[in-house]
Amino acid sequence: MNILVLGSGGREYALAWKLSQSQLVSKIYIAPGNAGTNSIGENVVINISDFNVVKETVLNYNIDMLVVGPEQPLVDGIVDFFKNDEQLKNIKIIGPDKNGAQLEGSKAFAKNFMEKYNIPTASCFTVTSSNLADGLNYLATQRPPFVLKADGLAAGKGVLIIDSLEEAQNELKEMLSGKFGSASAKVVIETFLKGIEVSMFVLTDGEHYVILPEAKDYKRIGDGDTGLNTGGMGAVSPVPFVTKDFVEKVENRIIKPTIEGLKNEKIDYKGFIFLGLMNVEGEPFVIEYNVRMGDPETEGVMTRIDSDLAALLDACAQGKLDEVDYQTSKNTSVTVMLVSGGYPEDYKKGMVMTGLDELSYDCIIAHAGTKLNDKGEIVTSGGRVIAVTAHGHNIEEAREKAYRDVEKIKFEGVNYRHDIGLDLMNL
Ligand code: AMP
Ligand code: GLY
Repeated sequence: MNILVLGSGGREYALAWKLSQSQLVSKIYIAPGNAGTNSIGENVVINISDFNVVKETVLNYNIDMLVVGPEQPLVDGIVDFFKNDEQLKNIKIIGPDKNGAQLEGSKAFAKNFMEKYNIPTASCFTVTSSNLADGLNYLATQRPPFVLKADGLAAGKGVLIIDSLEEAQNELKEMLSGKFGSASAKVVIETFLKGIEVSMFVLTDGEHYVILPEAKDYKRIGDGDTGLNTGGMGAVSPVPFVTKDFVEKVENRIIKPTIEGLKNEKIDYKGFIFLGLMNVEGEPFVIEYNVRMGDPETEGVMTRIDSDLAALLDACAQGKLDEVDYQTSKNTSVTVMLVSGGYPEDYKKGMVMTGLDELSYDCIIAHAGTKLNDKGEIVTSGGRVIAVTAHGHNIEEAREKAYRDVEKIKFEGVNYRHDIGLDLMNL
């Protein structure tokens, strides 16, 4: 089987890395990929938002399965494009259709869906410019902190959590007047949920599902959860508070009703569901749905799946997830993301990276924002640059191994968090 993975980050590196271990896979292509993915398979440097170019690539390279890494092509309808094309309709594709992708693409859609199918989530009120006055009044009836969410995709920046009512009311007005472009033409005001977050991942064929290893993401830039929000600075899997009892609650209250709901809405969903959950005193609530895997969670999660990922995805595409063998590792993984100095604000690109040839063989190194320069050197090309994942019998052991290698990787301005997993060690 030839597989094309769409995307260029650490998540796509990890998917390609895991797929490359399968006997079922002849060749992996990654579009556009990064400096690391090219040694797992072959990079195809194309613009993945142009579906006609993706089609050409699929036909040229005899691709049997397309794995869509990021959300944007899904929200833009790449699955529908494939299903409606005579030459592509039999290609296996991992990801939901355009309608299903709205679970991530529109917060209001996701909230309506959860309300309709009784899925636990924070209560909310949706505001557009036509009911701004109601929105301002609604805020006044709520207790702080106030949670404002741009309805559409806003590159992970569309959620504001604000302590003062006056500021929240001002922000609501600014969002509706285009603070996040058309993404905030509609705003969801949500009740604040107090608890600990966890990312859970489900692979579904629309009927059956497997629950993949969960992970805790570290979103803030600074140690001790301080500073600006980022795409994610590290991850730990498994998560100690995700007990059998908690998973059962998630399965019965969230996963099963979600899949029933998708079926009821006639949504074609063969792909990953990422549940961003808040654990509120042992009870799970959905903070957000994503229609893709998480980054950097995937860099850890993939290393904890013992089964053949290509076989899992093949079964998923064929609606046979109930027939697969699915095993996970008992190890703990710790993933540390190395980022460019200045990220998540402005940062320099093109910094030469050294130290990769001095690493132990204990860690899995997922390239995220890297590319090769004219001299064939690996240089930085993004905010999140490279992720180091190590396994251990516990968090302490995995942390020790991961940080040993993290410290060997050098580039000008390198930054990372030193405390990944520390908060979970004494739970
Ligand atoms: P989202 O983009 O929906 O994941 O939101 C970004 C972050 O905002 C989440 O990871 C949470 O940390 C936080 N957040 C979102 N919604 C809520 C909520 N209702 N209560 C508390 N925190 C929230
Ligand atoms: N790490 C969070 C995300 O991928 O959205």
